[in-house]
Amino acid sequence: MEAIETRYRTHTCGQLRLSDQGKTISLAGWVHNYRDYGGMVFIDLRDRDGITQLVFTPEGVGADAINLARKLRSEWVISATGVVADRGVDDKGKSLENPKLATGKIEIRVKSFAVLSESPTPPFLPDDREQINEERRLQYRYIDLRRPTMQDTLRTRHRVTRIMRDYLGDLGFWEIETPFLTKSTPEGARDFIVPARLVPGSFYALPQSPQLFKQLLMVGGCDKYMQIVRCFRDEDPRADRQAEFTQLDVEMAFIDRENIISIIEGLLRRIWKEVLNVEIPNPIPHIEYDDAMKLYGSDRPDLRYGMKLHDVTDLAHTTDFGVFKNAPMVKAICVPGGAKLTRKETDALAEWAKGFGAKGLAVTKVAGGAFDTGIAKFVASIAPQLIERTGAKDGDLLCFAADRSKIVHKVLGELRLKMARDLQMTPTQEFAWTWVVNFPLFEWDEEEKRFNSTHHPFTAPLDEDLAKFDSTDRATIESIKSKAYDIVVNGSEIGGGSIRIHRMDVQQKLFALLGIDSESQKLKFGFLLDALHYGAPPHGGIALGLDRLVMILRGINNIRDVIAFPKTQSGADLMCGSPSVVDEKQLRETHIRVALPPAKPA
Ligand code: AMO
Ligand code: AMP
Repeated sequence: MEAIETRYRTHTCGQLRLSDQGKTISLAGWVHNYRDYGGMVFIDLRDRDGITQLVFTPEGVGADAINLARKLRSEWVISATGVVADRGVDDKGKSLENPKLATGKIEIRVKSFAVLSESPTPPFLPDDREQINEERRLQYRYIDLRRPTMQDTLRTRHRVTRIMRDYLGDLGFWEIETPFLTKSTPEGARDFIVPARLVPGSFYALPQSPQLFKQLLMVGGCDKYMQIVRCFRDEDPRADRQAEFTQLDVEMAFIDRENIISIIEGLLRRIWKEVLNVEIPNPIPHIEYDDAMKLYGSDRPDLRYGMKLHDVTDLAHTTDFGVFKNAPMVKAICVPGGAKLTRKETDALAEWAKGFGAKGLAVTKVAGGAFDTGIAKFVASIAPQLIERTGAKDGDLLCFAADRSKIVHKVLGELRLKMARDLQMTPTQEFAWTWVVNFPLFEWDEEEKRFNSTHHPFTAPLDEDLAKFDSTDRATIESIKSKAYDIVVNGSEIGGGSIRIHRMDVQQKLFALLGIDSESQKLKFGFLLDALHYGAPPHGGIALGLDRLVMILRGINNIRDVIAFPKTQSGADLMCGSPSVVDEKQLRETHIRVALPPAKPA
């Protein structure tokens, strides 16, 4: 990247090459390193584009200034003017080039310089080789952001959003802003609410996504909408989840699932090509939700590893093993090379499985074409059939879960991932892509004894399932499939969307199936139903999780590392100290009385 010339600099610290030799230039940046060789001072000057070596000599800068140069310390900000020179060779004829730096062949013989800012010794140095405690990094984020990896991530993030805007802009999408102070949108999380000063006792909700607004934009004739937008969901943060995160939000009128899928694939293809020079399969394969659950125990299967789930219920029922005999479902995965796990490690797996609601985890090792250890004696009678069905080989570990399908799939789905991690299995490919399609429209909530939307309540059913809306039979309702789709890469759901309901009567029926009576429908979604009443085009869309997408592109496991100013696990911003108490006046103005004293930090 070239610098914009200012009075502080003519070039960036990553820009100069041997071909610039002899030029008088200026650089500005942070002191990354300083070395004082008895009056001759070497500084590595850093900015976001790189590092350039500066050389200060008494002859170059003058006898007085060399004393100031000897005082320069880490993270001081300076600008320097000098001449680009070849680093040349040392006394023994050895090259002084630093091959690790793009600017490693040259150095700047400084003629004059100015200290722009001093710094005390910082709490840590923005050097990627340092192991820095995350709390400290977040507290001094402005120093942490100077680290080259953080800058590379922010650069990647910027490139990605730019490609998104260019690509969709060229296809005729308009970027339109939607409100942040709004009404609750049901994406399944808790809302953040904001007191409305002008209407005592009333609150805005921050949007969990712009879902309803983008649909209303379609009713409003906007045809193709996109927005890179912040979403707010008051849920517990995780490694790939923040309460405040960013989506590429997209909606289009007059489309089908295939249209949106091909547009988004084109976008992903361009991002992967431009950022990583990696090709994405064309087309990306699809997997049915039911198959994803059956084969991988997950609706976001990580296809970089095999270890499919095998249904062995029929075989298991023929044994005398109590755990298997009476279970509604028994499935197995074959862990290649898993026989090397110790007894202690396999016992620990059973405990681990209990964390997912299982009663245990049965295992046995394959040796000499038969079973050894674990539940070997209970399954000896079905050994040949099990080995054939699971494709197990000597040295493998067979793991069984026996329970209701929901628990079997959950445990074995998680176990696949755990085994891939623990045994450091080699992925079959760097990026494994899939669209997951034909989700069920509803999920039964056992606790609340009612249906929830699997995606959100504006998702359309498959045309052929529309008639089932009138059924009163739970199984029939559960069998309704939706026009929703998720894009999954390496087991991460980086996006999801659907074709929407554009008919008022269908939307009303769906609300009714969710147990929302017509009074509540009017109160919560009256504006949507009204809009659908006044000529709504068929429409659909998707939202990509920008943070997750950048995580995958950069191979980063922690979502906080792809966000400039993230929140901790407990939702705190350690740098600015939010959330925090507000003063009495603000509370009074917003008609709020705090019932509990704020919790004191431990
Ligand atoms: P959904 O809720 O599936 O769909 O969200 C879309 C994508 O956003 C990302 N995502 C998150 N990323 C980080 N932290 C979070 N807390 C978080 N929650 C979601 C995921 C997810 O795939 N309005 C619909 C989209 C639509 O139907 O068009 C929606 O928001 O990558
Ligand atoms: P038990 O008969 O309870 O001693 O269990 C024998 C083995 O089966 C142990 O390794 C348990 O972890 C395992 N096990 C128990 N219940 C289940 C289950 N529902 N599914 C799979 N394995 C189980």
